[in-house]
Amino acid sequence: MSLERTFGIIKPDAVANGHVGAILTMIKEAGFRVVGMRMQRLSKLEAEAFYSVHKERGFFNGLVTFMTEGPVVVLALERENAIARWRELMGATNPANAAEGTIRKSFAENIERNSVHGSDAVETAAQEIPFFFSGSELL
Ligand code: RTP
Ligand code: MG
Repeated sequence: MSLERTFGIIKPDAVANGHVGAILTMIKEAGFRVVGMRMQRLSKLEAEAFYSVHKERGFFNGLVTFMTEGPVVVLALERENAIARWRELMGATNPANAAEGTIRKSFAENIERNSVHGSDAVETAAQEIPFFFSGSELL
């Protein structure tokens, strides 16, 4: 199987609660190579555009408010089967349903403040990585 890349975000709850280091350790121990990483604060426009697939959902405005409340860490991650493996390491969207050993089980506060984002398909990874990283930022 060939190497694949996916996109991740350490969300404002996890950054504010001091979990960046622990999450990066879990990422390393799961065999990912970090090929892009930056700390930034999303603008409202960026958050709305990034999550535009959810714009009709009742949780959309709350999600945008949450994602812009403080800094995030944006990540490009590489390994074999990276998209599925990163979703697996993240755990279920609702931490109440997340498996032991996953990031969301360990750190998420609730279904919205759930610590991490991950691309859900090859097509979304291919959109989300260049949304945040230029070619020269990917190592
Ligand atoms: P993500 O896109 O952030 O990786 O999360 P996901 O695929 O596991 O979940 P998705 O359905 O795409 O939802 C995106 C994010 O919206 C927030 N959310 N809030 N209040 C709610 O019922 C609710 N549902 C979803 C979460 O932050 C979720 O990760
Ligand atoms: Mg999603």
